[in-house]
Amino acid sequence: MGKVYVLDHPLIQHKLSYIRDKRTGTKEFRELVDEVAMLMAYEITRDMPLKEIEIETPVTTCKTKVIAGKKVGLVPILRAGLGMVDGMRKLIPAAKVGHVGLYRDPETLEPVEYYVKLPTDINERELIVIDPMLATGGSAAAAVTALKNRGAQNMKLMCLIAAPEGIEKFQQIHPEIDIYVAAVDEKLDDHGYIVPGLGDAGDRLFGTK
Ligand code: PRP
Ligand code: URA
Repeated sequence: MGKVYVLDHPLIQHKLSYIRDKRTGTKEFRELVDEVAMLMAYEITRDMPLKEIEIETPVTTCKTKVIAGKKVGLVPILRAGLGMVDGMRKLIPAAKVGHVGLYRDPETLEPVEYYVKLPTDINERELIVIDPMLATGGSAAAAVTALKNRGAQNMKLMCLIAAPEGIEKFQQIHPEIDIYVAAVDEKLDDHGYIVPGLGDAGDRLFGTK
């Protein structure tokens, strides 16, 4: 079974509190999500393999380490996942970015796919699927299924906030995939919103309602 990692670095937790606060306006919300995404990228890449190389410093030659292994791909789930891409690319600038467009039908809460555009070599990349909210889990599960159907083999899921219901559903459908979150909240409300959550991530990022 994939693991659930709660990234509880104090800076992540501090910034998440202001992200949650309803008084935080669009500009600050966007900036905070960007910063937290960068900090989460730092944590999620801890297991990247290294290889030894030899370089010359101005003083002498030395053996030193650089990242080895698979290249990274970032796959934000549109729209709200877009808000986390730039922060992650600050730390992983060579990552290619694919997009999966899904929206949650407000009546059924089922995800509806409307767009998929991916790097051609996704089967060779370590993919990080990004969405701020793991609520019912339907969108993230559908995005990962869409990626698997197109050849993706190595994936991690990264979200700001997850509901226990979303984690359970995602793990039922994709039991091998690790999930990285900044917080696991209490529950879903009757409309499928995470409680206490942060409201509608897409609307808060893009100033819509
Ligand atoms: C939100 C969020 C997730 C989804 C989570 O997207 O960004 O993609 O809901 O809910 P789930 O786990 O119950 O599927 P939304 O459908 O509001 O679309 P948007 O990002 O375009 O605003
Ligand atoms: N999507 C959101 O943006 N927020 C939630 O709480 C649930 C789904």
